[in-house]
Amino acid sequence: MIYADYNATAPVAEEVKQYLLERLDGPFANPNALHGLGQNISHAMEQCRNICADALDCYPEQIIFTSGASESISQVLFSTLAFARKNNSILTSSLEHAALKNGINFYAKKFNIDINQLAINSGGKALNFEIESPQLLATLIAAHNETGVIQDYLAFAQKMDEMQTPYLCDTTQLIGKCPFSFKKSNVDYAVVSSHKLGSLPGVGILIAKNPETLSPIIFGGGQEKSLRGGTQNYLAIECLGLVMSKLEKRVESFSKLESLKLNFEENLTSQIPGLQIIGAKEQRLSNTTLLAIPAIHGQAIQIELESHDIFVTTSSACSDNEPEISESLKAMGIEDDLGRGVIRLSFGEKTTQDDFNFINNAIIKAYQKLAIIKH
Ligand SMILES: Cc1ncc(COP(=O)(O)O)c(C=O)c1O
Repeated sequence: MIYADYNATAPVAEEVKQYLLERLDGPFANPNALHGLGQNISHAMEQCRNICADALDCYPEQIIFTSGASESISQVLFSTLAFARKNNSILTSSLEHAALKNGINFYAKKFNIDINQLAINSGGKALNFEIESPQLLATLIAAHNETGVIQDYLAFAQKMDEMQTPYLCDTTQLIGKCPFSFKKSNVDYAVVSSHKLGSLPGVGILIAKNPETLSPIIFGGGQEKSLRGGTQNYLAIECLGLVMSKLEKRVESFSKLESLKLNFEENLTSQIPGLQIIGAKEQRLSNTTLLAIPAIHGQAIQIELESHDIFVTTSSACSDNEPEISESLKAMGIEDDLGRGVIRLSFGEKTTQDDFNFINNAIIKAYQKLAIIKH
């Protein structure tokens, strides 16, 4: 089996599996309990917070443990959009993940908030960060989940800072694949999803430059300084701490995919007429290829690849069953004919040259078979 869908979720790392197997023997206790066992768990969780803060270059006090990136994003949207406001517009982009886009649309409709969209070039990169007045909130994804295109989020953060506009940066795909420093980035809010990093689903992080700007969306017994109620998922947090302690190594191993991937893309382009690598001219995540074959449906290729035990997706996992081409691709000016042909391959630290060769051959075979059906 070849798994090439790391942007959807990464397989659980061996060290997490080993840790968890032993850890399941206990001790168990509620980290908020005052007895000794609870305090030990709480201490371990705070150690994990310190490790995460170290890896992400922020202060431990800026970290709130949540259930994942969607929840972290939702909390920022609630905190910045659901209350009395001085102005009434948002700056965002058509590149955002559904978690953010659907949230923005919800608040915009409910409170009559104007949405200003950043311009996108044909390579999937946002341009022109000029705004005339401060916004309630600005969002620009750091690295796109489908194309892998890395945005100028540092320049954007600078501009938003000058314009006194809080910036929520969806760093879900960037963190773990590229170096990231929260302090240096100057973004106001960043997010982490544990399951994208080879740890468990169901836990994530919201990093806030100033946590006092946040309101809780889940109320509870004062956990996470009253910013996120409910007993923390301490087992998953411990596992997250483990992968975070090796984050630099993970980034390094992902960077090694760059040359293998470019080679793979070059080979395919030379063998399939009209094949396009979306966003190829822009700086992209080293592990991501979004390719399109005109007039051949992406889902047909996906099924063919699956018959060879290769697992890819046609776009992001969350919108895989949408027949429409994604809004991001539309904003890039990609025609339906090409857009319906996209398949996303996202590789990981375990992907080998042999895997690339095998996938290459399977795509060629799929193309040859489907091209005959097409004509
Ligand atoms: C860019 C981006 N943002 C947010 C999310 C949501 O992450 P989670 O599964 O942790 O809620 C994803 C997951 O697919 C993503 O790729």
